[in-house]
Amino acid sequence: MRILLLTHAFNSLTQRVYCALAGRGHLVSVELDIADSVSEEAVALFKPDLVVAPFLKRAIPESLWSRYRCLIVHPGVPGDRGPSALDWAITDGVPEWGVTVLQAEAEMDAGPVWAAARFPLRCARKASVYRQEVTEAAVQAVLVAVDRVQAGNFTPERVPGLARPLLRQAERAIDWQAHSSAEVLSRMHAADGFPGVADRLFGQPCHLFDAWPEASLRGAPGELIARRETAICRATADGAVWIGHVKRPGGVKLPATLAFPETAALPEQALANWWKSPLPTWQDIAYEEAGGVGFLRFEFYNGAMGSAQCRRLAEAFRWASTRPTRVIVLRGGEDFWSNGIHLNLIEAAESPADASWENINAIDDLAEAILRCETQLTVAALGGNAGAGGCFLARACDRVWVRDGVMLNPHYKNMGNLFGSEFWTYLLPPRVGAEGAAAIMRHRLPMTAAEAVNIGFYDACLPGPGFVVDVARRAAEMANSAGFSAQLAAKVAQRAADEALKPLAAYRAEELAAMRRNFYGFDPSYHVARYHFVSKTPHSWTPRHLARHRDLDWKIPE
Ligand code: COA
Repeated sequence: MRILLLTHAFNSLTQRVYCALAGRGHLVSVELDIADSVSEEAVALFKPDLVVAPFLKRAIPESLWSRYRCLIVHPGVPGDRGPSALDWAITDGVPEWGVTVLQAEAEMDAGPVWAAARFPLRCARKASVYRQEVTEAAVQAVLVAVDRVQAGNFTPERVPGLARPLLRQAERAIDWQAHSSAEVLSRMHAADGFPGVADRLFGQPCHLFDAWPEASLRGAPGELIARRETAICRATADGAVWIGHVKRPGGVKLPATLAFPETAALPEQALANWWKSPLPTWQDIAYEEAGGVGFLRFEFYNGAMGSAQCRRLAEAFRWASTRPTRVIVLRGGEDFWSNGIHLNLIEAAESPADASWENINAIDDLAEAILRCETQLTVAALGGNAGAGGCFLARACDRVWVRDGVMLNPHYKNMGNLFGSEFWTYLLPPRVGAEGAAAIMRHRLPMTAAEAVNIGFYDACLPGPGFVVDVARRAAEMANSAGFSAQLAAKVAQRAADEALKPLAAYRAEELAAMRRNFYGFDPSYHVARYHFVSKTPHSWTPRHLARHRDLDWKIPE
């Protein structure tokens, strides 16, 4: 079928739906939901058999749904309606939630149901549930719905329900004197990553994001009691929670200590070392060991890696490489492995060009530390999505294992034509060939885990359920295999041979020369694209590589 995806943004859920439908042989094109007239133009050009709306922020116009079958992905169970579906589910603490694919009609979310899927609701941030369970369920339900449309013998049924209103800040508000830590966490989880919980710090209004439990610190309810790296700890009625990120009016979302310099006066509660703390607390880099394998977890909000985070991770990695282990697994975070340099921090810096330069050098130093490791075999285990430099940073490891369902965006050009670094010019061609590397960079399209393995970019795609256990088992097998010493020796020899042919420093210098032009040159594309990305400027057109119906030579296939 010809399927038009009408969506507010080409976010990771939409990317998964796009890849799943294209993978089934459908002809898929994308139009961003900019204005009714633009959507009307898109259907006139593409003449779709079906319109699927994976992520919309407003209703589909009647001019569309009255002429084309339009299926909406609603992040709620059948019968649920309204704009704050997931927010309410988390707030109410329901044990199970779901996704419904329903047909667009005049009344929002009230049309006949084509398919639905359910999942147990994890106690986690809204954005995390959205990227994991909601996305899985959405792909499953959309595929069923599309099959049913294609089969032509399914009659969708109306499900009675009631619209729940928008969850407002008044209902999200935290009463620091009265609310327990569990209540505060639930409220902050239900509002993460948008809109956050409106609150005040140092008497100033702001929105809070990125909450973590704290097991031992205590203080007078509401009091700010500590800081650690980029996070701050605030006492609740029965304990304390960590707050990782804050957005001030008119600003971008930033690490809490950066958003409020006043936090410098708080007592620093540094952790003694990299070992994973036995009690719940905020710990962005945590190390564990089992069966000759070291596991390094880095839970950086949104997968964005600022200069200081890269330096600390490189320090932790170097320390891990002094441990008596044979394999180091870099596990990244729950939702993201890495999305490359930290665009919000760069935007907030006095000189974004200098901050970009510092950040790309810091991430390259980390990549270089991994590439030069001669004491262990290294594995990147991607349980969460990766984008831009994050995809190539993973490739700096000897093996890359990726969870089925992870979405990858291994290209830089969407960010104002960035050339990119992280040694991609060294790492990519041997895996996919020079032409393959050029195609990945040029196409700017998302890639599924299975595709990445098929083209040889990554090494193994492991099933979603049990990924963590599977990774640990495979890493232990690697560490204890009879061929381990030979494998390590071969890697060291290969690196030495590569170095003799062309030193890493040369690859780095060439990439950074191009990046220097992106940061300091007279073409401001990167600075403009970054500004729009962090400010979440609404799209004013659909990129041509997504909107196939807008290709100059587009013709409706016979
Ligand atoms: N720096 C800072 N914030 C970043 C980021 C980065 N490199 N990458 C993603 N984010 C933030 C987004 O702003 C968003 O913030 P929110 O919490 O306010 O919503 C959040 O992470 C999730 O991003 P989103 O785009 O909604 O997620 P996605 O899974 O749909 O898409 C990407 C993932 C990677 C395609 C997309 O985030 C992206 O293009 N990121 C930029 C990558 C990049 O160009 N890095 C710099 C070059 S190395």
